[in-house]
Amino acid sequence: MSAPKILVFDSGVGGLSILAELRHTLPKCQLVFACDNAAFPYGTKPEINLIERVEMALSALIHRLDPDIIVVACNSASTLVLPRIRANFQRPIVGVVPAIKPAAMLSTSKCIGLLATPGTVQRPYTQKLIDDFASHCQVVAVGSAELVELAEQKLRGETPDNNALKTILAPFLAEPRLDTIVLACTHFPLLREELSKAAERHIKWVDSGAAIARRVLSLLGQLPDELPPQPHSLALFTAPQPAALVAGLKQYGCVETDVVEI
Ligand code: DGL
Repeated sequence: MSAPKILVFDSGVGGLSILAELRHTLPKCQLVFACDNAAFPYGTKPEINLIERVEMALSALIHRLDPDIIVVACNSASTLVLPRIRANFQRPIVGVVPAIKPAAMLSTSKCIGLLATPGTVQRPYTQKLIDDFASHCQVVAVGSAELVELAEQKLRGETPDNNALKTILAPFLAEPRLDTIVLACTHFPLLREELSKAAERHIKWVDSGAAIARRVLSLLGQLPDELPPQPHSLALFTAPQPAALVAGLKQYGCVETDVVEI
């Protein structure tokens, strides 16, 4: 048996936070990172355009890679397109969606924050997660496209501005009871340390990465012992990626890159 191939798909570098969790849990899988940077960002796109774009991008990537499992490592896309792409592409698809249930369970005060893209915050899918799992909580929601940009900049070697982070977090920090924040965009765990510092008080930060890795593991089942570890990944972009990203990609094991035109 050859190593299972897992496609990790996002609009930008956020997918790397999921790739890191998958590599940790599934070191023997062949992980391919694909980033639709030609259509970045997803979090502010009209829904109709985003649905079409994700379908088009995934169809081209499936044609090129023939992956065993697809991980849609993007909350903005998953909260919108999962039923449609599951119907259209005949292979297992795991979608990253806001970790509202674990956050509601973890919170002591039952006052939690939801930090996502403007798109994810507005989706009926997200509201349903709140209704189903956090109806007993006060939920403060913040949609920030700027934070996505700051995460992209960090991967290009720039230091995120602490004041900008404080301003983004202000609605959460105005609630003295709030003790838990859901990082409901895969870009945001890349800024966990900086967000933690900017908050200046103890917050439990919750993301979906580890749960996604466990889900993929359960889909794959036991892998043969003889498979060697796969520490490196191919990173595919839909437009030429900036040279400043090379070092950031290497930190996540992405040493080889290529462009897939869509
Ligand atoms: N990383 C993506 C998410 O999880 C979206 C970022 C964007 O393209 O706006 O929502």
